[in-house]
Amino acid sequence: MESLKGKKVFITGVTSGIGKSCVYALAKEGADLLISARRKNLVDEIANEIRSKYKINVYPFQLDVRNKKEVDDAVKSLPDEWKRIDILINNAGMGRGMNKLYEDNPDGWEEMIDTNIKGLLYVTNAIIHQMVERKEGHIINIGSIAGHEAYPRGAVYCASKHAVAAITKSLRADVMDKNIRISTIDPGLVQTGFSKVRFYGDEEKADAVYKGYTPLSPDDIADAVVYVATRPKHVNIAQMIVFPTAQASSTLVHKEI
Ligand SMILES: NC(=O)c1ccc[n+]([C@@H]2O[C@H](COP(=O)([O-])OP(=O)(O)OC[C@H]3O[C@@H](n4cnc5c(N)ncnc54)[C@H](OP(=O)(O)O)[C@@H]3O)[C@@H](O)[C@H]2O)c1
Repeated sequence: MESLKGKKVFITGVTSGIGKSCVYALAKEGADLLISARRKNLVDEIANEIRSKYKINVYPFQLDVRNKKEVDDAVKSLPDEWKRIDILINNAGMGRGMNKLYEDNPDGWEEMIDTNIKGLLYVTNAIIHQMVERKEGHIINIGSIAGHEAYPRGAVYCASKHAVAAITKSLRADVMDKNIRISTIDPGLVQTGFSKVRFYGDEEKADAVYKGYTPLSPDDIADAVVYVATRPKHVNIAQMIVFPTAQASSTLVHKEI
């Protein structure tokens, strides 16, 4: 197992769910963390907590991954001691709506494509050049089972996660001679803020997604992230699908209600 002590890990979308759990799990491993999301007040709160609890270095900043200039400026203006990034975790992402395509709101399509595909590309592009130069680095994308199996009422979310899967595979080939690992962790149902965002704040609909079975917790995915990040340098976990035990595919979930 490789130690993460003192490694610089850049994580997007840390104010909730999987990203937030990753912050705590990686802090526990002694990594130094560059943490970001749109809600800067929450990013700062998390930074203060982990600094005092784990005695690690933390660089909190505001970042909307949909804004290419903001992404480029944020990475360019990193202080010298934070410029060399060892691991990038592309976690920021979202779903909007669960409707038949012909009944869906196209505004949500823009948000999903801008965040899940273009945002991931912008952040990757801003960081990968220094990894290529150094011939060292690891990028871990948080994909989804939706990137393997399209399901009804999820055309654009599934398309966005299929895109993440394709980008992950192509990029892995692009950098296989550069000693850079490209991994994807693809969860099934994880209980986070995801469903509340997807249903535009409707808590009843969001809660129903996780009823009748034990969903994954965001800590379960953070545990997978730590596993993937701590393999020996010559080992790349290319893809890891993680389901709750009651889930067998993107559409098969055993619920006891
Ligand atoms: N929950 C699941 O069942 C599940 C399953 C498979 C895959 N995933 C994937 O896991 C990842 C994390 O989702 P989650 O379940 O943890 O959801 P979540 O609890 O809603 O957290 C999403 C995080 O992403 C951030 N974010 C959203 N849009 C952003 C943007 N434009 N720029 C920067 N940060 C942004 C949010 O922070 P701010 O609002 O503060 O910006 C928040 O911290 C996503 O890629 C999602 O697709 C989730």
